[in-house]
Amino acid sequence: MSASAAITPGDPCVLVIFGASGDLTRRLLLPALYHLACDGLLSDRFAIVGCAMDEWTTDEFRQRMTVQVRQFTTRAPFDEATWSTFVQRLHYTPARFDDADAFVRLRTIVTGLDAEIGAGGNVLFYMATPPSVFGLVSRSLHHAGFDVLGPGWKRVIVEKPFGHDLASAVELNREMLTYWREDQIYRIDHYLGKETVQNLMAFRFSNGMFEPLWNRNFIDHIQFTVSESVGVEGRGGYYETSGVMRDMIQNHMFQMLAYLCMEPPVSFAADAVRNEKAKLLDAVRIMGPLEIARDAVRGQYGPGRGPDGAPLAGYRQEANVSATSGTETFAALKLHIDNWRWEGVPVYLRSGKRLWKRGTEIVVQFKRAPDVLFRASGADQIDNNRLIFHMQPDQGIELRFHAKVPGTLLRLQNVNMRFSYGDAFQASRAIGYEVLVYNCMIGDATLFSRTDLVEGAWRIAQPLLDAWSKSTPADFPNYEAASWGPKHAFDLLERDGRRWVEIINRDVLERVPLFAGADPLFLNELLLILEPDVFEPGEYIVREGEEASVMYFIARGEVAVESHAGTVVGTLSGGDYFGEVGLLHAQPRNASVRAITQTDVFLMKRRAFAKVVGQRPEFAESIERIANERYSIAPTTAPK
Ligand code: NDP
Ligand code: BG6
Repeated sequence: MSASAAITPGDPCVLVIFGASGDLTRRLLLPALYHLACDGLLSDRFAIVGCAMDEWTTDEFRQRMTVQVRQFTTRAPFDEATWSTFVQRLHYTPARFDDADAFVRLRTIVTGLDAEIGAGGNVLFYMATPPSVFGLVSRSLHHAGFDVLGPGWKRVIVEKPFGHDLASAVELNREMLTYWREDQIYRIDHYLGKETVQNLMAFRFSNGMFEPLWNRNFIDHIQFTVSESVGVEGRGGYYETSGVMRDMIQNHMFQMLAYLCMEPPVSFAADAVRNEKAKLLDAVRIMGPLEIARDAVRGQYGPGRGPDGAPLAGYRQEANVSATSGTETFAALKLHIDNWRWEGVPVYLRSGKRLWKRGTEIVVQFKRAPDVLFRASGADQIDNNRLIFHMQPDQGIELRFHAKVPGTLLRLQNVNMRFSYGDAFQASRAIGYEVLVYNCMIGDATLFSRTDLVEGAWRIAQPLLDAWSKSTPADFPNYEAASWGPKHAFDLLERDGRRWVEIINRDVLERVPLFAGADPLFLNELLLILEPDVFEPGEYIVREGEEASVMYFIARGEVAVESHAGTVVGTLSGGDYFGEVGLLHAQPRNASVRAITQTDVFLMKRRAFAKVVGQRPEFAESIERIANERYSIAPTTAPK
C-alpha cells in the first residue's frame, strides 16, 4: 500500500484472466477494472485476455461483459465513453488449462498484444479459478515459456482459499514456488481491499493519541465479530468442505487481527508490514486439546424465521449439504497473543452465517478507571471505555466513554463520539478489488499475503480443524437461523466476567413496543446500556423468589411464565419485556420465566434501570402503569 499521495496509472501490462467465464470475473474483477479505467488508473498501454474452457470469441466475451458490467458496477451513472474505450481492450481465447497447444496460442496472443500496445513485456496473470488448478496453470505457463518471455515483469494473482489446511497450503506454496519467485506471487484476501481494514493501520500509526495505550497496561481485551445474515447461498457443496473456520476466520479475521495487534513496521514497504504481521501471527498461542474444549465454541444454524417472519432453512436442509452435517457455520474463540505487548489480554473472535444481522466490528475494551472517587460520592460504577471499529456495513469509528449527566447530582452516563465515513468522505463506491489489482500493477505487495503469513494463519487454525473433524457435536444444530448464535458463545465471555459488545441499531429497539416513538436521545442512551444474552429452550431466565437485578426485553423467541405451582400462566415473545416488577418494587421475583424456544434478550441491569427510570419519567410511568395493570389482573403471576 503506497503511502504516496500522487495518483499515477498502473504499469503498462497485458492482464491474462484464467477463469474469465466465471462468477468472480463477471461480478467483481471486470467491474473493478472498469472502475480503475473510470478513475484514470489504468495505463493507456493495457490489454486484457480472458481465458476459460468456453468456446467464446472475443466479440462474444465483449458482449457478455458489456451486459454484466452494468449489472455489477457499484457506480452510477454508467460511463459509456470510458466503457466503449475499455471494451476494445478485451480479448478472449478458449483454453483448457491442461492443453499445451492452447497455451502456445495464448502466448502468441499475449506477445502480439504486448508488441501492439507497448506493454514492455509486463504480464499479469490472474487466477480467477479454483485453487486446484493454480499448479496446473502455472505449469502450463512455464511449459509455454511465459516465464522467460522477454523483458518486463511477470506477476500472478491467486484467489482464495489458499490451501484447505496447513499441509495443503504448504504443498500449494511449494508448487507455486516451483514456477514463481515469492515476489511474483500476489495472494488475494478481499478483506484487505476494504477501506476500513486498510484504515486500521492508518488509524493506529497516524494518531499519537491511541498508540501509547495500545498494550496490556491499558487494554482489557479485544473482540472481533463478523456476523452474516445470509446462509450459504447455494454454495452448500463448497461450504461442506470449508466451514466458518476456513471460510472466514483463518483468512479474513486473522488478517484483521494482525493489523490491529502487530508492532509498528519500520516503513510501509510491503515486507516491512508483512514481517510484522507474520510476527504477530507467530505469537498467537497454538491451542491444545484442553484450550479447544474450554476456549472454542462451534455452532451450526437450524431452521428459523427471518425478521419478516418468513421461514429460513437450517444448514442441513440447504442444497448439497448432508442431513447429518458436522460443518460449523459459527465459531467463537478466545485467543492469546504471547508477546510483550499483549501478554494477558484475551482476544475473542466470533463469526457465523445466518445470524440476526450483518455486521463486522472490532471492539477494543480499555481497562476501567479506578472508581474510588465515584464510590465515595455515591455516583455510579465506572464502566469500561471502548473504542469500536465499525468495519461494515456501517463504516466508522466510535469511542464510548463517560460524561456527567447534567443536573445538581454527580451522575455518570455512557456517551459516544463517532466518526462516520459517510459524513467525512464521499462514500466509496469501490468493490474492493480495485485497490488490490492496482497495487499488483504497481508492484506493491503490502495488501497481499506471503507464504509465511498463509502458513502462520493455518498453524493457528489447524488444531481446531483437527479436533472438530473428529466428531459432530450432539447439539448440532445449536442456534436458530436469524438468532444471535449459540448460547455457548455468550458463556465463553461470561465465564471471564465479560460480554460481547453487541452493536444494536435503533430500528431493533423501535420494534420493542415500549420504545416505539421514543426520542432519539433516549434510544441512543438505551443502545449504550442494553446487553445481549441468549437462553436455550427449557432454560430458566428468572426464577421465582430470587432477587431481581435485571429487566429483560425479548428480541426474538418465546418464553413461558410459570406460576408458583409450575403451571404456565402466559407466554411472551419478541417485542415483550419482563422482570421490571422486581426492580420497581424491590421485591423478589414473583414468578419464573423459562425459554420455550431459543430466546435472544436484551438485559437492562438494575443500575441502568434505576438511572433510566430516574431520568425518564415518561418511561417510568409507562412501565409502572403496565406493571400495576398486570398485578391487578393477576397478582400471583409474573409480569404481563
Ligand atoms: P467459477 O466456478 O464461477 O469459475 C471458475 C472459472 O475457472 C470458470 O471460468 C471455469 O471455466 C474456469 N476453469 C476451471 N477449471 C478449468 C480448467 N481445467 N480449464 C479451463 N478453465 C477452467 O468460480 P468463481 O469465479 O466463483 O471463483 C474463482 C475463484 O475465486 C475461486 O478460487 C474462489 O474461491 C475465488 N473467489 C470467488 C468469489 C466470488 O464471489 N465468486 C469471491 C472471492 C473469491 P468454465 O466456466 O469454462 O468451466
Ligand atoms: C468470502 C466467503 O470470502 O467472504 C463468504 O467465502 C463470505 O462465505 C464473504 O460471505 C464475506 O465477505 P464480505 O465482504 O461480504 O464480508
